[in-house]
Amino acid sequence: MPRTVLPTPQEAAAAAADALLAALEGKDKATLALSGGSGGELTLEALSRRRSQLDWSKVDFFWADERRVPLDHPRSNYGLARRLLLDPLGIAESRRHPLVDPAKAERELLALAPDGLLAVQLGLGDDGHTASLFPGSPALTSSAWVAETTSPSGEPRLTLTPAYLKRAVFIAIVATGAGKKDVVEKASTDPSAGLPIQALGPRASWFLDDAAASN
Ligand code: 6PG
Repeated sequence: MPRTVLPTPQEAAAAAADALLAALEGKDKATLALSGGSGGELTLEALSRRRSQLDWSKVDFFWADERRVPLDHPRSNYGLARRLLLDPLGIAESRRHPLVDPAKAERELLALAPDGLLAVQLGLGDDGHTASLFPGSPALTSSAWVAETTSPSGEPRLTLTPAYLKRAVFIAIVATGAGKKDVVEKASTDPSAGLPIQALGPRASWFLDDAAASN
């Protein structure tokens, strides 16, 4: 798996942002899916700082996963992106496709990215989850593109599935902090570990800080 390791979380997220922009650049129809978490937040900030580097009017925004809360709730991944990227860049409402309803999301994906998304940013949980694909979730093997899941703490979520995510042209996984070093090592060295992140296959590009890569 392609791997970029940089000293700080901010630098790792900035490298991911550069790679996402490179994947989106020059395309008439560009699709990008975003995540939450600290890696998502840092990547959104880095993308926002690079606002002049892309014609954002060509980009349709999706979400890799979402909590089932109102879009203005503090835990909404859409809300995070709206605050850090979409509103500051003036992204048109028609280009925003928040993940609120599985059937609607599948229709939008079918219409705008039938062969897969152009670029996806994902994070990594210390249990190996990515998006809202938690260990043992039926969503991991579902053939649907969007699935309902529940986090280990019981929070209802929606997530894109590996069946769909794997079709993406470019996937950036941002994982930072010492808390991630064991799972990063396991995902990199044991192909049969069965971690959710491994369901994406070996093509995804990893962006790590020194602490997460320290094993
Ligand atoms: C979310 C996610 C989730 C996240 C990981 C890693 O909405 O919470 O999309 O998959 O990316 O839990 O989160 P951190 O970057 O905060 O460790």
